[in-house]
Amino acid sequence: MTAAQMTARRAGPLKGVVRAPGDKSISHRALILGALAHGVTEVEGLLEGEDVRRSAAGMIAFGVGVERLGEGRWRVEGRGAFAEPADVIDCGNAGTGVRLIMGAAAGFELAATFTGDASLRSRPMNRVLKPLGEMGASFICRAGGRLPLTLRGGGLKHTAYRLPEPSAQVKSAVLLAGLHADGGAEVIEPEATRDHTERMLRAFGAQVEVTEQGPERRIVLAGGQSLTGVRVRVPGDPSSAAFPLVAALITPGSEVTVEGMLLNPLRIGLLDTLGEMGADLSVTNVREEGGEAVADVTARYSQLTGVTVPPERAPSMIDEYPILAVAAAFAEGPTLMQGIGEMRVKESDRIALMAQGLAACGVGVEEGPDSLTVVGSVRANHGVAGGARVTTHGDHRIAMSHLILGLASADPVAVDEPGMIATSFPGFLPLMRSLGAEIAE
Ligand code: S3P
Repeated sequence: MTAAQMTARRAGPLKGVVRAPGDKSISHRALILGALAHGVTEVEGLLEGEDVRRSAAGMIAFGVGVERLGEGRWRVEGRGAFAEPADVIDCGNAGTGVRLIMGAAAGFELAATFTGDASLRSRPMNRVLKPLGEMGASFICRAGGRLPLTLRGGGLKHTAYRLPEPSAQVKSAVLLAGLHADGGAEVIEPEATRDHTERMLRAFGAQVEVTEQGPERRIVLAGGQSLTGVRVRVPGDPSSAAFPLVAALITPGSEVTVEGMLLNPLRIGLLDTLGEMGADLSVTNVREEGGEAVADVTARYSQLTGVTVPPERAPSMIDEYPILAVAAAFAEGPTLMQGIGEMRVKESDRIALMAQGLAACGVGVEEGPDSLTVVGSVRANHGVAGGARVTTHGDHRIAMSHLILGLASADPVAVDEPGMIATSFPGFLPLMRSLGAEIAE
């Protein structure tokens, strides 16, 4: 059964070679694009976390054949259309799942009701309802565009939508709806966000044109296109790999290699940032897998120095700021993270929760409306105190980040709701233990 808390304590150095679990973003997309396609999509290395399993169940509810063949091996049989679901679609904790599925479903003549857990029901959906509404979908939802909500789809027309905030989920929802919109769809993003949907639409046979103008990107999906099932190999998730890598950087004597990590340039802002902080990281065996670059990444214990992380880097590491904040706690001097307001609308308000958790562990922090400063004072203060029980509000990345902190702090660190870690990284505990981490349930 689910443990009420999990506790990490300082032990010896972390050593070993591990494989990152499948990328969450690509796993959701593999199931959803496979469901929209004609024919069979076979997926290898699918992340079998709670979030992705919800998307698989969602696709079944829309009448798509989805079958698990073995560990990480899934088969999706699409018919190029969604049927009306007979019941409510519960997307659990998954913002990516619900937003992409709403986009995909909006193209069809059907009504579908979506809900999720308490976290997902509190998250803003207007950001997708607005463009999908402009295309012709209609919605009945709770105040502020919250779930549960009912979507009525079909009869969509073209939109050229300029994203008000950088969001790959919103971009993807519009493009997926565009597959069944008269004239397709166009998205203009103020700064580049993860481009897995564009890449995968192409792999499934669609034409997607991308033009860049300064930091802006214009993505055009022409109308009248259909997708054909393909084989998808899911690379290792850099957002999950970040936890063992940072653990090695802050735990004296450690050396950890994560194999098969996705190196998509729109996902690895954390590697750049850690490099600037003086991290001893090496990237080897760079290769291509399923249209994406992957590599083996090795991290060795390093004396880190605080840096300023510029706002334009935020989209390429938006999910990694919690674990960066932990690395920063073990650095010398302040680390300022700017332009990270989007962190407040993730699975939790991650700026607030990291500030609270780090402060409880004796780390100096300063929270701004869209920034966070972590004052590392490792050499001056003989390290990070720890010794707290951290409230995670059911946020998997808040939980994992504080457990990693507990591996190198003076006193143990406990987190509540550790069961939520399974939303993105079900194998976190055995993987960390295999490296020598002391984490107790
Ligand atoms: C994701 C996009 C990001 C990210 C999320 C996954 C995706 O969210 O935080 O974990 O797969 O498209 P936003 O689109 O809200 O930035």
